[in-house]
Amino acid sequence: MSKRIDAVDLNVYYGDFLAVEGVNINIEPRSVTAFIGPSGCGKTTFLRTINRMHEVLPGARVTGKLLVDGDDIYAAGVDPVTVRTQIGMVFQRPNPFPTMSIRENVLAGMRLNNKRMSRSDADDLVEKSLRGANLWNEVKDRLDRPGSGLSGGQQQRLCIARTIAVSPDVILMDEPCSALDPISTLAVEDLILELKEQYTVVIVTHNMQQAARVSDKTAFFNIAGVGKPGKLIEYDLTTNIFNNPQEKSTEDYVSGRFG
Ligand SMILES: Nc1ncnc2c1ncn2[C@@H]1O[C@H](COP(=O)(O)OP(=O)(O)OP(=O)(O)O)[C@@H](O)[C@H]1O
Ligand SMILES: [Mg+2]
Repeated sequence: MSKRIDAVDLNVYYGDFLAVEGVNINIEPRSVTAFIGPSGCGKTTFLRTINRMHEVLPGARVTGKLLVDGDDIYAAGVDPVTVRTQIGMVFQRPNPFPTMSIRENVLAGMRLNNKRMSRSDADDLVEKSLRGANLWNEVKDRLDRPGSGLSGGQQQRLCIARTIAVSPDVILMDEPCSALDPISTLAVEDLILELKEQYTVVIVTHNMQQAARVSDKTAFFNIAGVGKPGKLIEYDLTTNIFNNPQEKSTEDYVSGRFG
C-alpha cells in the first residue's frame, strides 16, 4: 500500500498533438500532491497517464517512463486493467452507478475484478470502505437504496469508498470538490488528509486554498499558448510554492494574477 510515483521525461500525446511535454516528477508515498495551473495546461491529461486511463482514447499515447515503486507501468506485458485497480481514480463529477444501491456501488470494483466474496465478507468490506470514506454514519441505515439518492457530497464520498474498496496503492482525484458545496468540500478535504496515512494521493484543483490546506507538495503546470504543450514549471513543498515560488509564472498564478 502507498507507493511512490516517478515520471521520467514523460510526453503525452493525443494523436499528433503533444499535450504535455517532458514531465519529471517524484511523488512520495503517504503524501498529498496537488496539481495546479490554468485551464488547458494538461493537469487532467497527465493525471490520467498515471493509471493508464489516457490511452483508452483512440490515438492517445505516451513516451517516457512512469514508474510506480520503480516498476514501469507502461512496460510490455503490464496489464492496464491491473494498473487501474492499483491506482484508483475519483472524477470531477460524482459518478455512482445510478441504478445500483449504495452497497452495490461500494462493491462494484470488486465485482468487476471477478472477486468472489461471502455475504459477510462483502458486508465487512462495505462497512470498512464507507467508514474509510467518512460516509458510514450517514448511510448505514439505507445501504440498499440507490446511490443516486445521496447528496452530491455524499455521492463523491461514495465514489471514494468505491475506489478504496479495491485496496489501491494510489488515489488520483481530478477536481473532486468542484461540484460540491463548501461543507461537503471540507468533508472531502478532511477525508483526503486521512487517506494519506495509507495511500499516495494526487489531487488536481483550481482552488488555491484547497491546495494549501490538503497538500504536502504542489506541482504548478503552465502552457505557453494555444496549441503549445503544457509543462511542469515548478514542483516543491506547498508552503514554498505559495510563499516563496522560484518562478515568476508560479508567483503570478498563485497570487491570482492570471489563470
Ligand atoms: N480527448 C482529447 N483529444 C484531444 N485533445 C485533448 C483531449 N482532451 C484534452 N485535450 C487537450 O489537451 C490539452 C490539455 O487538456 P487537459 O484537459 O489535460 O487540461 P487541464 O489542465 O485539465 O484543464 P482544466 O483545468 O480546464 O481541466 C488541452 O489543449 C486540451 O484541449
Ligand atoms: Mg482538467
